[in-house]
Amino acid sequence: MTPSRYDDAYGAWKADPDAFWSRAARAIDWVTPPAKVFDPKRGVYGRWFPDGVLNTCWNALDRHVGAGRGAQPAIIWDSPITGRSATITYAQLLDRVARCAGALAARGVGKGDRVIVYMPMVPEAAIAMLACARLGAVHSVVFGGFAAAELAARIADAKPKAIVSASCGLEPGRIVKYKPLLDAAIALSPHKPDFCLILQRPESPSELTPGRDTDFLEAEAEAPHEPCTPVAATDPLYILYTSGTTGAPKGIVRDNGGHAVALMNSMGMLYGLRAGDVMWTASDVGWVVGHSYIVYGPLLAGCTSILYEGKPVGTPDAGAFWRVLSQHGAKVLFTAPTALRAIKKEDPEGKLVGQYDLSKFEALFLAGERCDPPTAEWASALLKRPVIDHWWQTETGWSISGNFRGFGLFESRFGSGGKPAPGYDLRVLDEGGQEVPRGQIGTLAVKLPLPPANLPTLWNADERFRSAYLETFPGYYNTSDAGMVDEDGYVWVMSRTDDIINVAGHRLSTGAMEEVLAAHPDVAECAVVGVKDSLKGQAPIGLVVLKAGVARADADIARELVALVRDRIGPVAAFKEARVVARLPKTRSGKILRGTIRKIADGESYAVPPTIDDPAILDEIGEVLRAAEK
Ligand code: COA
Ligand code: AMP
Repeated sequence: MTPSRYDDAYGAWKADPDAFWSRAARAIDWVTPPAKVFDPKRGVYGRWFPDGVLNTCWNALDRHVGAGRGAQPAIIWDSPITGRSATITYAQLLDRVARCAGALAARGVGKGDRVIVYMPMVPEAAIAMLACARLGAVHSVVFGGFAAAELAARIADAKPKAIVSASCGLEPGRIVKYKPLLDAAIALSPHKPDFCLILQRPESPSELTPGRDTDFLEAEAEAPHEPCTPVAATDPLYILYTSGTTGAPKGIVRDNGGHAVALMNSMGMLYGLRAGDVMWTASDVGWVVGHSYIVYGPLLAGCTSILYEGKPVGTPDAGAFWRVLSQHGAKVLFTAPTALRAIKKEDPEGKLVGQYDLSKFEALFLAGERCDPPTAEWASALLKRPVIDHWWQTETGWSISGNFRGFGLFESRFGSGGKPAPGYDLRVLDEGGQEVPRGQIGTLAVKLPLPPANLPTLWNADERFRSAYLETFPGYYNTSDAGMVDEDGYVWVMSRTDDIINVAGHRLSTGAMEEVLAAHPDVAECAVVGVKDSLKGQAPIGLVVLKAGVARADADIARELVALVRDRIGPVAAFKEARVVARLPKTRSGKILRGTIRKIADGESYAVPPTIDDPAILDEIGEVLRAAEK
């Protein structure tokens, strides 16, 4: 292994961040190149490339076609779930995106307007996103596994002029009809969109609502090509809602300029990819990983991106990932550890790998949750390729720490998320905001400013942005992840410090689930925590205390609670377990000791809170939680 240039590169960034980002910005086509790299006086903590003007869609499509990449595949859609696939070249994608933008513009969508995209994993999801970028409109993609009420909350907050959706999504053994969910969400939301474009899928077309809905493909085919609208680097490209500590999701804002620069830079620095290479990110366009590395990152860099509508197992078997890698010649696979655990469970010896030619495959990247060392070791031994865990959040848009193929890899340590990426001045702080010595656990925090592509604020909520992220440790962004940096500079991310849990790489708020349980007429109080799950990492469990006098069977109530969470939040919550308990640990003043319950669930040591009304209850709860682990 040649020595990594990481230390020098990180040092160079730290010595002169403006020079680092100014160089990175040269890889982007600007309408007006930015004279200033960063303005600390603008926005909540400053803004990147404040006087730059560009168009993100231009950088993702037009310029590649102009540079002769028109015939290269931009997107390969591989859908084992429908048995269909498609290859869309850059020239074809540009044609479709420009028409889709034309269809939106003809119906009144322009710069700054919001468009919600509620789609399964089909190329039209990426087309709709890029069409918005072309117009300077702001897209907000909502993951298909969310229920109508969650979609409604996002419609109410983003106030979209249009919604782009599909007639259905496909899960193994089940068709998810989107149209009834969309109709219910629009009915629930106080804000109504002017119109909807609906992609009719042959697996289950839907009735279009007259006066509101238009067939996506017909609208696209009829529309003229729309040119790119120049936007300020600081104008929003998208809003992506993510779980906060309450039921109200946070609208993470991404700008155009910083996003394009940082993502373009990450394609070479982190993933070691260049124009013409094939990248496969096995995630969903509804998550940040999908935004950054199914759509924008690979296209900005002129790569080919695989859009996969399938699962790691069951579509049709645990060899699906190896089949896709081999068939399309992907150099890099990026997925969540839970997908590997699912494959390992079905094919522990990895026999199916041998059936495929993986000669083009170079590296596996993992994120979304902490990767347990046995899973990383299994993948490393089986694939004989670098297995790179990198840590990031919806808020950051790209990784805070990792290993960098562009600098030459340093030795990976399984269980660690690598070393901080240039751009992030990462510190570990104690509760009082003081730095702790290397090797000691604390809260992981980034010294401001955050690098380009990180959120400049929350949608229409500067104050919530400040209070949720910047106030605990003045001068720092609080990641709400606990962990440490060891003597050699490796970052170890251990757990969240708030009520967010990670289920199958999906980020969920236990607070939001508690709000749903508390609404059940028989529930007096409740707590939701994550317990260990050998496949999904964590699984939520609801502990509920019933109101006095409720005489119904516990099992009936538990079933209703499970159904209620599925109905209100969606199947993605994977909420399958509610237990009726006699009592919950509380302080003498009646506050539920959620932090202590969480620690018991995580198997962490905890001090018995001095304010607890009855310490014996902690053992009772511990037994219930241990029994629920899988
Ligand atoms: N639309 C509708 N429903 C969806 C959905 C979507 N886009 N995505 C998931 N769901 C449903 C699933 O069908 C499942 O429903 P069920 O309760 O009826 O079985 C439920 O939501 C929970 O889904 P999930 O937690 O994903 O579990 P699973 O058992 O279906 O699959 C894995 C398990 C490990 C195979 C799957 O989670 C996986 O591939 N994970 C990779 C994670 C990932 O890509 N994360 C992104 C961050 S990088
Ligand atoms: P999301 O916003 O959905 O990307 O989830 C972000 C959260 O997932 C982080 O705050 C971490 O808690 C967790 N996470 C993501 N990637 C990693 C990783 N590589 N190692 C540990 N935790 C991770």
